[in-house]
Amino acid sequence: MTVLLGSDHAGFGLRRVLANSLIERGHAVAEMGATGEDAFDYPDAAIELSRRMQRGDAEFGVLICGTGIGMSITANKFRGIRAAVCWSTEAAKLAREHNHANVLCIGARLIDPDAAQSILDMFLTTPESPESRHARRVAKIDFLGECAEPEAAAK
Ligand code: RB5
Repeated sequence: MTVLLGSDHAGFGLRRVLANSLIERGHAVAEMGATGEDAFDYPDAAIELSRRMQRGDAEFGVLICGTGIGMSITANKFRGIRAAVCWSTEAAKLAREHNHANVLCIGARLIDPDAAQSILDMFLTTPESPESRHARRVAKIDFLGECAEPEAAAK
């Protein structure tokens, strides 16, 4: 599978750890955002990753900043992106099953690397629930995203 990973400076170290782990296990990865510990604005990484997801470059994305919160706020502006901040494997499982999340956001200042690895593995291996109530709710979110575009609002 191909996974896109983006981070700011706060998430750079964890992003490298998770990217290397994915590569070792045979996945293709593309990294974007910070190139080191120098300050990097988290929206720029989230915007690039979200646009690449919209183009179909990958099924899953991972965004890492200090808390995961700024990344999720930014990524969720993009139609088709369902970004979830996850702090446990249970949260990651439910984000996939119930919310059909396709971008995992992690707070590198709040989650230790071993836990982040477990959260990522759960996220990537949990399928969306086939139960119709979840698909119905996700469809309502996706429709809202289309209405929120400036072109749609002007009509
Ligand atoms: C950077 O200091 C920090 O604000 C950023 O990594 C993130 O936590 C924002 O949501």
